[in-house]
This record gives sequence, structure tokens and C-alpha cells, in this order.
Amino acid sequence: MGGHLSPMEKAKFVAAKRAVDYVEDGMRLGLGTGSTAAWMVRILGEMVREEGLNITGVPTSSRTADLAREVGVPITTLDEVKWLDLTIDGADEFDPDLNLIKGGGGALLQEKIVATASDMMVVVSDASKQVETLGAFPLPVEVIPFGWQTTKALIEESLTGLDVMGRSASLRLNHDAPFVTDEGNHILDLHLRRIGNPRQLSMVLNQVPGVVENGLFIDIADAIVIGHGDGLVEVRDINNGTVERERIGVVEDDNLFTDIAD
Ligand code: A5P
Repeated sequence: MGGHLSPMEKAKFVAAKRAVDYVEDGMRLGLGTGSTAAWMVRILGEMVREEGLNITGVPTSSRTADLAREVGVPITTLDEVKWLDLTIDGADEFDPDLNLIKGGGGALLQEKIVATASDMMVVVSDASKQVETLGAFPLPVEVIPFGWQTTKALIEESLTGLDVMGRSASLRLNHDAPFVTDEGNHILDLHLRRIGNPRQLSMVLNQVPGVVENGLFIDIADAIVIGHGDGLVEVRDINNGTVERERIGVVEDDNLFTDIAD
């Protein structure tokens, strides 16, 4: 991949590169899941190896745990540290209030627990995930396998009267079998097209028996770093209302760009 980052990969990389500026020595960090968060883990690995950065990470998936081990980021469990200074994670969609849809990679449950257990959550994203209103991306809902078809029917019924445009759900598959999360559950993707009231929807979904958690992250994210294919990054801090822009240089012969498995 060295020397040939696509504009999309470059956007993800520069977002991750800028986001690690939030990391300080000694921090306990939530490590997100997905292709953008994977850049962040690789960059942190390089900082640990080459600069002696002292951090402890709590991965949000088995995939991220594997990557952290591979690149040398020390990891532990949330039960060990109980609370985190900062989580950096990707998103599938974000709105102007920094409400998110997450779970495209199937890791929403651990991601939500870890982000909620953090003093600060910073989202890393390319600009394509920005929307005025959430819902074009199918909303992932993690359900236990027992009686999932009944849970699906109850979810569809619970959407009646809510401010959404579509009301169908589909079971996520991995090849021909149901997708299984790290917690041994399944994912239902809700095709809502437009979510008028994310807070209400989140509460309604989590009332349905069989639902473990949904992929709406409401009032959890504190800041977002939006990367662009030309190296520009925009940092929006929702708490103090600031927006900063800068350009990040990318040296593509860097070690970071070799042996990329993701
Ligand atoms: C994983 O379950 C998701 O929440 C990811 O954070 C989200 O899908 C973003 O992934 P990418 O960075 O690969 O787009």
C-alpha cells in the first residue's frame, strides 16, 4: 500500500493522525473498531515503539485487540481499569450535534460501553459520513440469538408511530450464516432512511426484550476529527463550539504503510 493511499484511506489516516494529538502519556485509552480506528491503533503503536509513549488500551473488539497486540499497543480489560481517559473511534454517520450511528463493523456493544466509560470520546471520520439527519445508514441493533425473529417483529412493531421513513429490519449475515458478534449475539440492521428523533428511537429500541443495545450514540461524542482526501482535517469540539482546520502531511514511505492487513 506504501505510496498508493487512496483519497479515502488518506482521509481516514489524517483524521487518525490528528486525533492522537488528544493522547497524553499515562492515559488509559478506549481503542475503537473499524478501518479509521485501525489507523489510530497503528499510529499509537508507532508512538509506543519509537517515542516510548506510555499508554494502556482497552480494545472494543477482538479485531482491534489483535491489531493492538500486533503493533505493540499494551492492552488490558475494562474490568481491570474500570474507567478511561479517552476513547477514539470511528462512526458510520454523524449529525451536526455529533450524534452517531455506529456498528457497521458489528462492534457497537463494546464500543458503546467503552465510550460511555470514558472522560472523552473523539470520533475519527472521513467527510462522507456527515449527514444532516441520521438514518440513511442502516441502524445496527444487537439482539440475543434466542427468539431473534420475535425480537425483529417486535422492533418493527415498535417503530410504528415513530418519526422514521422505513420500518424494515434484516438479519445481518456473514456469508450464509447469521453474523455473530464478539458477545455471541446477532445484529439486526434497521432500514429507517431518516431518524427524526434519535433519542426517542434509542429508548424505544432498548425497551424491546431481546435487544441488547442499539447503534445510536447520543450525547456520547465530545469532538470529531474529519479527514479529507487532500490531507485537510477539521476538528469540531461540541462542548466548546470550536472548529479548527489544518493540513496534515502524509509521508507514504513511512513504516505505517507497510504490511497493512486491514
Ligand atoms: C464498528 O462496529 C463501527 O462502529 C465502526 O466504528 C464504524 O463502522 C466505522 O468504521 P470505518 O472507520 O471502517 O468506516
